Amino acid sequence: MIKIPPLKKTYSSRTVLDFPGTDLEKGRIYAVIGSNGSGKSTFAKILSGMIKDDDKQKLFKDIAVGYMPQRNYSFRMSVVRNILLGGKDPSLANELMERLKISHLKDKRAKSLSGGETARMALARLMMGKYDIVILDEPTSAMDMESSLLTEELIKEYVKNTNCALILITHSLQQAKRIADDVLFFHKGSLLEYGSAEKVLYEPENAETKKFLEFYGS
Ligand SMILES: Nc1ncnc2c1ncn2[C@@H]1O[C@H](COP(=O)(O)OP(=O)(O)OP(=O)(O)O)[C@@H](O)[C@H]1O
Ligand SMILES: [Mg+2]
Repeated sequence: MIKIPPLKKTYSSRTVLDFPGTDLEKGRIYAVIGSNGSGKSTFAKILSGMIKDDDKQKLFKDIAVGYMPQRNYSFRMSVVRNILLGGKDPSLANELMERLKISHLKDKRAKSLSGGETARMALARLMMGKYDIVILDEPTSAMDMESSLLTEELIKEYVKNTNCALILITHSLQQAKRIADDVLFFHKGSLLEYGSAEKVLYEPENAETKKFLEFYGS
């Protein structure tokens, strides 16, 4: 069990995140859903240590956190060298490129990749490592359906193999239904509903969650 304390983030007196805290269980996939601006990425950035919460808490001790930001980055080098920044094992790099169908891009300049290709490279780079918590901020938003589906398969396997707690931020309810164990619904910076995927996605209690799910046509 990994304890996440209550987290608050305020920008010029506007609270964009007021998270009550929770426990994460290893080996589970947590989908975070909610509208634009509901605080999902802010939550991810605080957990990853990229930004501090209002109390400037140091969140984790002896806990490794892997993070794939919403805006993917690449370095001025080849695709394979970018991927090897995440870990040293060349055969794992080859396997991940194979799985994510980017082997043919191996020696290309990373900066020349398309959005969806860059996302697949960034995911491969992340999966070169092993972490206690992994946070993926909309990893498939730039991907086509085929890539999204193979990414989901890879995510499931990665969680099984590494036994991490994985937080998946997504705008796709279908994706959440396919791979999430638990779902957190964010609304205006608050966690409005939290529970098993079956419950939150199919039988939500909160009126805002119901509205959100209806709007997304679920
Ligand atoms: N550095 C910042 N300064 C001021 N406001 C910020 C800053 N970063 C985020 N915000 C605000 O905080 C709110 C939450 O942003 P956040 O990026 O967490 O949303 P999100 O749920 O990830 O949205 P999306 O679905 O569009 O990615 C937004 O209203 C945003 O404008
Ligand atoms: Mg975001």
